[in-house]
Amino acid sequence: MHIGILGTGTLATALATSWTRAGHDVGIGGRSPERAAAAATASGARVRRLPEIARDADAVLLAVHWQGAGDILEAAGAPGGALAGRPLIDPTNAVEHGIGVLTTAAGRAFAHHIADLAPGAHVVKAFHLFPAAAWTSPAAAPVTVAMCGDDSRALEVTGSLVRDVGGVPAVLGGLDRARQAEEAAGFVIALAFAGADPRSAVPGGTP
Ligand SMILES: NC(=O)c1ccc[n+]([C@@H]2O[C@H](COP(=O)([O-])OP(=O)(O)OC[C@H]3O[C@@H](n4cnc5c(N)ncnc54)[C@H](OP(=O)(O)O)[C@@H]3O)[C@@H](O)[C@H]2O)c1
Repeated sequence: MHIGILGTGTLATALATSWTRAGHDVGIGGRSPERAAAAATASGARVRRLPEIARDADAVLLAVHWQGAGDILEAAGAPGGALAGRPLIDPTNAVEHGIGVLTTAAGRAFAHHIADLAPGAHVVKAFHLFPAAAWTSPAAAPVTVAMCGDDSRALEVTGSLVRDVGGVPAVLGGLDRARQAEEAAGFVIALAFAGADPRSAVPGGTP
């Protein structure tokens, strides 16, 4: 596949590394050309200018801090339809740092906000619950990656990219379930910052 990555930080570099290893053609770009070059060197991806990220892309990953989502989508031409018809994978956690409370209005997911900023794109919430290192150094037992989205083809493409990094995809539902998926991450983040192991806070986990 041709994959476009918006963002040049930790998660962008980790997934670019593993998708490149899996044989995909990965283009990566961000607001800093220097950081894009560093991420490309570290991951084996190609640097691409933001307006070109979506061109030919079978899927686009939005891997930026939630406060930068609007800026980078605009630079990529999303408001004008550059991502229309493409899977747009959203791993963002729009939560208050260390507290885990969602910053979006009640009942609304940040994934909905992203869908508004990228008209026609098929938004899939995924990859937001595990640390980036899970994709470069997978655990012995495969992890389940819960995904939400309204377009079946976009879910298939994202599921295949989950398998490529050693995960097992599980569809939670349509984008109307994204708020729940985002709350789950807030729950995990809050417990981790409070010093508890979130895995011990769910049935089947061990303290
Ligand atoms: N890291 C993880 O383990 C992990 C796991 C699950 C989900 N996530 C989510 O993935 C996203 C990226 O996380 P990360 O850890 O990779 O963050 P990071 O290493 O801090 O990188 C953040 C990225 O966002 C970009 N950015 C911030 N504000 C921007 C703006 N206004 N315009 C354009 N770009 C902007 C940064 O660009 P500059 O370098 O130019 O500042 C950088 O490319 C976040 O939403 C996070 O919640 C991360």
